[in-house]
Amino acid sequence: MKLLASFEQFKQSALSFGEGAGGRKVRLAILLSGRGSNMLALVAATKTGVLKDLAEVVVVFSNKPDAPGLAFAAEQGCPVASLPSQGRKREAFDADAAALLQQYRPDVVVLAGYMRILSPAFIQPFAGRILNIHPADTHQHQGLHAYEWAFENQLPETKITVHLVDEGLDTGPILAQQTVDLRGADTLAEVERRGLAVEHELYARTLAWLITSKQYGLIDQK
Ligand code: GRF
Repeated sequence: MKLLASFEQFKQSALSFGEGAGGRKVRLAILLSGRGSNMLALVAATKTGVLKDLAEVVVVFSNKPDAPGLAFAAEQGCPVASLPSQGRKREAFDADAAALLQQYRPDVVVLAGYMRILSPAFIQPFAGRILNIHPADTHQHQGLHAYEWAFENQLPETKITVHLVDEGLDTGPILAQQTVDLRGADTLAEVERRGLAVEHELYARTLAWLITSKQYGLIDQK
């Protein structure tokens, strides 16, 4: 995993961090619109993996009430919430979604296949505390169909990216990247299988790194 030290915004706004070892767990709100495999990996990491004792999932939220990931989250015992975005104006929906999420007092909002571009109404309440995972190098490819892009261009590798979210489409500061070897991956399904395996580890490890760096003052040491 390659960590890129562009976390100034995160350092300043993740106010609930830095309580020292033995402090309370960091509260995660996970947002999804689809199947939720990254959400499941994160939940598992909080139960038995690298996020154990560091973080807890306080809500899994979806803009699609029938998203399969929401049902999977409930099966895992996570609190779930949803608000249909269909037919709503972006700013109005985002304001309602932010207000709903604030009831759960999340420290970090973790986008995991949340298929929306966020407006200031959502970004501002959580500024610098929203993370996303993107299945490509965000400097090379933004938006949907990143695995298709890698497959169709027969790329020998692609990079999974965890980044802070701002108001652009996959434009926020990069926190971590990991390369996926795509040599010999001759179907789109195989490209996705290799990529998702990396996604599922990288997201949890990046969060663990952020939390422990903050807790032990490493981020502040510059
Ligand atoms: C992942 O490929 C993620 O990188 C992208 O959307 C997909 C979500 O998949 N942002 P899942 O719902 O986590 O399985």
